[in-house]
Amino acid sequence: MKEIYLEQIDSTNLYGKAHLSELSDKTVIFAGKQYAGHGRLKRSWVDLGGDNLFLSFILKPSDTFIDIYSNLPQYLSVVVCKVLQNYNVMPEIKWPNDVLIGGKKIAGILAETVVQGNIFKGIILGIGVNLNADKSSFKLVKDRKITALNIETGRCINSNEFRIQLCKEFFYNYEKFLTVGFPFVRYDYLERSCFLGKDIQVKVFDKEISGFAKSVTDRGELVLLNNENEFIINMGDIL
Ligand code: BTN
Repeated sequence: MKEIYLEQIDSTNLYGKAHLSELSDKTVIFAGKQYAGHGRLKRSWVDLGGDNLFLSFILKPSDTFIDIYSNLPQYLSVVVCKVLQNYNVMPEIKWPNDVLIGGKKIAGILAETVVQGNIFKGIILGIGVNLNADKSSFKLVKDRKITALNIETGRCINSNEFRIQLCKEFFYNYEKFLTVGFPFVRYDYLERSCFLGKDIQVKVFDKEISGFAKSVTDRGELVLLNNENEFIINMGDIL
């Protein structure tokens, strides 16, 4: 594993994409400040101004893309939950890979796959974790309730310590995950899920589907039950 620290950058994912050809497999890019962070579904990821985590894993596991790679964000959601638990908090996962504490988002994950022509070049797996933030900065995020680890624990968080734990936990089972896929983390994922067994609404592009969250398949897809019809959803956002 190689680490690259950037004092300030638009986005660690954008940096990863722009430099992908020079970066080796398992490089970790992290930044002190990130002024144009982006998230899933065209959302932005706001730098709350404290000492927070903005990090991207550069992954080049093979020359061809395999479906298991689509579950890397879910693998990372379990990894970050395990690290957060070391701080005596109870994180939950909202399908597909948002991490919440007490219903408020603390971490977001975004995977971007780079393909040139039909050649797979790699994945930039980005994660943002609110580690140290002033409550007054929460108003910068308008579309959802958020929290930060310092608020949840009542103490300052050492972002270096957090990052080291995250990378260690991520790479500990990474190769195993790549051979098994989502079933490798299914139990850990479901155990922390906050959506199963509930009536929910899911936004899929510009459509909303509502139903009972029945389960998650071995490919990490959400199974929704609506009037005895089963919907298997592989992309979207729980509202
Ligand atoms: C989401 O919740 O929609 C995903 C947010 C992902 C944010 C991280 S911060 C580090 C990396 N750089 C980015 O621009 N985005 C990811």
